[in-house]
Amino acid sequence: MTRHLNRRDFVKSTAATLAAASALGAFSTNARAARRIVARGKREIRIGIIGCGGRGTGAGGNALEASPDARIVALGDLFAERVSRAQTSLAGFGDRAKVPAAQCFTGFDAYQGVISVPLDYVILATPPGFRPIHFVAAIAAGRNAFVEKPVAVDPTGIRMMLAAASEVDAKNLRVAAGTQRRHEWSYLEAMQRIQRGAIGSVVAARVFWNMGSLWNVAPDPARTDVENQVRNWLYHTWLSGDHIVEQHVHNIDIANWAMGSHPARCVAVGGRQVRTDTKEFGNVFDHFAVDFEYAGATQDKPTRFALSMARQQDGTAGRVEEVIYGSAGVAHLSSGSARITGENPWVFKGPSNNPYVQEQIDLQRAIVDGTPLNETNQVAESTMSAIMGRMAAYSGAELTWEEALASPMNLMPPSIQFGPLPQAPVAIPGATPSQS
Ligand SMILES: NC(=O)c1ccc[n+]([C@@H]2O[C@H](COP(=O)([O-])OP(=O)(O)OC[C@H]3O[C@@H](n4cnc5c(N)ncnc54)[C@H](O)[C@@H]3O)[C@@H](O)[C@H]2O)c1
Repeated sequence: MTRHLNRRDFVKSTAATLAAASALGAFSTNARAARRIVARGKREIRIGIIGCGGRGTGAGGNALEASPDARIVALGDLFAERVSRAQTSLAGFGDRAKVPAAQCFTGFDAYQGVISVPLDYVILATPPGFRPIHFVAAIAAGRNAFVEKPVAVDPTGIRMMLAAASEVDAKNLRVAAGTQRRHEWSYLEAMQRIQRGAIGSVVAARVFWNMGSLWNVAPDPARTDVENQVRNWLYHTWLSGDHIVEQHVHNIDIANWAMGSHPARCVAVGGRQVRTDTKEFGNVFDHFAVDFEYAGATQDKPTRFALSMARQQDGTAGRVEEVIYGSAGVAHLSSGSARITGENPWVFKGPSNNPYVQEQIDLQRAIVDGTPLNETNQVAESTMSAIMGRMAAYSGAELTWEEALASPMNLMPPSIQFGPLPQAPVAIPGATPSQS
């Protein structure tokens, strides 16, 4: 997906960005800022990556596309082969992605090596179970960050993220999150229209990520339990948060954005019907449905609701979208497409942007220009909403936001090193406690 842009291409694409932005008016700030980064050309933007898999490497490429001044200067991963693979993938960017061996780090403490290198920002893209530890360390070291979603897998991790979010402001740092819909023009324009009343007052939402199966890595008896689980991280709740958190957080984030808050309570169902082999598919579910309840927009307004549905089962109908219902219309949103029906009909006619590059442009702009940007609370709240849905589905309990967020649940093993680690059991609604 990443494509090397030389300076001419970049200026050309920035010109297109500018034209599009002036048509939209509201987004011209981003485009002007992107041009300023290019025009400056005298300030290197030094980037480190922690977690050099598909997304970490992809985000690195996006960051290099975002500005010719960007360079990757440090790489860290649990496994040496992932660091080498990232270097090969980014080789098309030439010197801007050549990282000296002394700034390549491996092992569980690779993150400490990366953040010890002088950086303008660090990309955090390991499995999300590790994210709070890495984020807290990065902010403590005074690093700006691009933090992939989700940002935790349990309430303990969310509380770490929220505490660090205040540090971000106190230390005058910048943080962008990998909830890329918040940087996609179709979503931005639709949401701006919704906020200005195009569908009346928002009363409900339906949000979906229904799809088939994803990749998995069968366990290798020559490896330790921990290595097998980390290599097959999607299927272990302590690492991924389960697919409602790992993937569906994107759509739940849109419900929260439209509602202007996190949910107040929820009830949920879920289970595993297809991915039943625990050796290959760990302890995660393969389907969830959650009824999220939001407080009324004002005290005299009734409660609002969002139906959330996520499924990873082959041979079933796919659907990845959000539908927002208002008193005067309905907004239909999905990647690259947005429309409103009802009293104020509208269709997004483009041009579209690449939100993965845009989120890097927005972060680089904030760093270079010194403008504020802190998306930590937003992504932490959306992640917590998804975690609350999972806790409700696993246990069968109805949960309030306060109960879920205060839960002592901490899924991270007490000591993180290669070795034995019994697999967590598959949750059984009605038997699994909501706080465990
Ligand atoms: N925003 C998006 O659209 C999007 C898309 C894909 C993935 N993601 C997110 O990006 C993150 C990474 O996903 P991915 O698809 O790149 O997974 P991946 O498996 O391809 O990469 C994860 C990398 O992290 C490394 N790693 C694991 N534990 C580590 C540790 N403790 N320290 C250092 N490195 C460690 C792994 O070796 C691997 O190279 C996840 O949070 C995922 O949800 C976001």
